Amino acid sequence: MSKCNSLDDVIYFCDGKKCCRYNEEAKSCIKSLLSETGLNKSISLEKMKCQGMCKSAPVFYIDSEKKYKKEVTKKKAKKIFDKYFIA
Ligand code: FES
Repeated sequence: MSKCNSLDDVIYFCDGKKCCRYNEEAKSCIKSLLSETGLNKSISLEKMKCQGMCKSAPVFYIDSEKKYKKEVTKKKAKKIFDKYFIA
């Protein structure tokens, strides 16, 4: 069974005009990973405003890591999830 690195974390997705056109797949991928692993109890997925990086849409932000993730595809979303949230 997977283990969460941090008790409380937030994954933000940019919901600005540009990102919201491209973030649907990555968002739903993260959502289902969170519920599959039960991590949805300690990690939430929230929206944020345009981060001024529209060229790199869709943009995500991992709160605990203080890191932006750019051009997040479904595949990249899965990688990010494995790297930061699965021990
Ligand atoms: S719309 Fe997402 S960074 Fe601008």
